[in-house]
Amino acid sequence: MRAKLYVAMVGLPARGKSTMAKRIREGLREDGIQAAIFNNGNMRRELFGSESTKAAFYDPTNLKSYDAREYICRKNFEAAREYLACGGDVAILDATNARPSRRAMLEASLTDHPVLFIECVNEDPVLVETCIRRKANLPEYAGYSAEEAYESFNARIRYYESIYCPLSVERYWMRVDTTANRILDEHPCEDSPYYSAIRDILVTMWVRRLFLARHGQTVYNIEGRIGGNPALTEKGQEQAAALATHLRDKTIAWVFTSTRLRSLQTAAPLLAARVGTTHMALKEFDEINAGDCEEMSYEDIRRTMPQVTLQRNADKYHYVYPNGESYAILRERVRRGLRRALFLAGDAPLMIVGHQAINRVILSLFLLRRSEDIPYTFVPQNQYYHICTLPRRKVFELVHYSA
Ligand code: F6P
Repeated sequence: MRAKLYVAMVGLPARGKSTMAKRIREGLREDGIQAAIFNNGNMRRELFGSESTKAAFYDPTNLKSYDAREYICRKNFEAAREYLACGGDVAILDATNARPSRRAMLEASLTDHPVLFIECVNEDPVLVETCIRRKANLPEYAGYSAEEAYESFNARIRYYESIYCPLSVERYWMRVDTTANRILDEHPCEDSPYYSAIRDILVTMWVRRLFLARHGQTVYNIEGRIGGNPALTEKGQEQAAALATHLRDKTIAWVFTSTRLRSLQTAAPLLAARVGTTHMALKEFDEINAGDCEEMSYEDIRRTMPQVTLQRNADKYHYVYPNGESYAILRERVRRGLRRALFLAGDAPLMIVGHQAINRVILSLFLLRRSEDIPYTFVPQNQYYHICTLPRRKVFELVHYSA
């Protein structure tokens, strides 16, 4: 008989469990492994509708709703058992499974195959907040005002927090930082042939479609001046319009920019032509801070601060501008921004409109490059990088867009 596995997700709401569950299913299917998801939330909506949107439904002292939630859990694990009995290989139980007693019940009931618990952790308050705001917009909150929905979802999370216990006594488990694709701790299920495939899926920086563009031309670009907050030139605006035209038929769910004018202006035509695309300006994507050299031209720096040019040429990756940043410092900030962008976009296509140094660093986070080469990566203003990184598929291409 082929080996089988139950995977039970664990974690508070808005921590990325469903995205991870879908990735596990898809990643395994790519390897010819039959996998399916059994989602408690979907069944809850089907069986209990708007009643289950109310925060009181999650109150652990409310015995009636407690029974309802345990009923959903049992129905789903019975369906999962049936699925494995009828040819499936991996059944994924997507639920909070926050309470140790629930997990003990799963382990005690699902004895035909191992149960691997995957706990999803996300401690970035900005991401949690943004996810809650988005969930408050879901159709199930149709009868609520935005604030009521937000409050209700927060109250639901507080109920879960009151019963939540991290994994520890369960037999097989992994704890995953869903914002960093990192396994924080694990009690491996070495007997399962799927364990290492699942681990590989979870540590992959999973990007279905990322368009990485640099802002269009600015006056400072023409003058060779760095940093500052210049606007686009006429040519830069044409480039922004050409980018929007070139991508007009592509779905882009999220557009991330920096907070700088040139990045915002480059994204503007693209955003204007779309409905349902979410824009978010992240400071993490602001161009490298050149400190005392901000707004100077490379020529001025060479003339008035020759030691800056000399030292930077000697080790451009580690050189820290006086009162500013180095590429090495920048990398940490950009990594934070990229994690946020990828977490929020989930599996939806996204675009980042960045800057020269920012895009070099983003590219380096996808490519294995020697750090000393990062500050020299080619980042043109009339082409974008199209990136796809999935466990079994990598695409990396530079695409021309200007007329
Ligand atoms: O020149 C445009 C620019 O985006 C500057 O604002 C920034 O300081 C620079 O590129 C980064 O490139 P480099 O590290 O090669 O100076």
